[in-house]
Amino acid sequence: MESIKKVGVLTSGGDAPGMNAAIRAVVRSAVYNNIQVIGIKRGYEGLLSGEIVELGPRSVSDIVHRGGTFLLTARCQEMMNDEGVERAYKICKVLSLDALIVIGGDGSFHGAQKLSQLGTNVICIPATIDLDLDCTEYTIGFDTAINTGMEAINKIRDTSSSHERCSLVEVMGRHAGHIALWCSITGGAEEVLIPEMNTVNTETIIQQIFANRSKGKTHNLIVVAEGVGNTTQMAKTIENITGIETRATILGHLQRGGSPTALDRMHASMMGYTAIETLMQKRKNRVVIFKNGKYEDIDINEALECKKEYDNKLYEIIKMLAI
Ligand code: F6P
Repeated sequence: MESIKKVGVLTSGGDAPGMNAAIRAVVRSAVYNNIQVIGIKRGYEGLLSGEIVELGPRSVSDIVHRGGTFLLTARCQEMMNDEGVERAYKICKVLSLDALIVIGGDGSFHGAQKLSQLGTNVICIPATIDLDLDCTEYTIGFDTAINTGMEAINKIRDTSSSHERCSLVEVMGRHAGHIALWCSITGGAEEVLIPEMNTVNTETIIQQIFANRSKGKTHNLIVVAEGVGNTTQMAKTIENITGIETRATILGHLQRGGSPTALDRMHASMMGYTAIETLMQKRKNRVVIFKNGKYEDIDINEALECKKEYDNKLYEIIKMLAI
């Protein structure tokens, strides 16, 4: 592999707090090593429509603390088909990119993997609030999202206890329950429902609500992952059957915004730096990961081999701590 002279960087899929800090680290580490950087707007969509901006150290000033992504992001349908990937590959060639740095989650990495099969050198940085990538112990944005979730639960708990109500709090996670599990344990919830568990047994939930009442609990906090669905309807059903006032709160995109926590800025900065280090060491088609306290890089195909499972132990602990 020849020496790296020019790289492109894009953010793709759902935004995550810390993406800006990752772009900053990529740009500054690259320029420090005499590598030219172009920013690609709106993820793969911007790549396909040639929306590029030259980036230097000053273009990434004042963003380390900002949520969202200043490069903008999108979920690109065209990258789902072979023609789109082929076109993206040709555009990378026209732009003379020695590597494309993709900051995003699972879907974005699959796009990168297809590009790598055609010959584009890709380096991926994991950034999704969902923490749903098996290859890495951390994905940028998760800590900010669960802190937002936890703070919301704290506030809901106050009013829920005062009114002796049951509260359902829906957190993000269409396919993965990691946010719900962490928000439950840190928010002290009585119950958590996640998409990985497939079935929701309302009768069991109601039995537990009654049991909690007789134990003297003034509230019943139930965290529901988005992917379980029907949170508002579930609240109505619980209220109708139990006679206990029940409210549903959908946190939604609130969890995707906000200034990144120190942990997210740290991981984002280290992962951005590691992406450029990986290129400097002439490695191709890699995913930057955090494992056993270290930042490393692994082959993209290996990285995407397995689906991350939810932590059943965490679920059992939530139930145990809710007695
Ligand atoms: O980025 C991940 C995520 O926030 C999931 O938790 C959620 O299910 C999904 O994105 C929502 O996507 P959108 O913003 O496109 O509605």
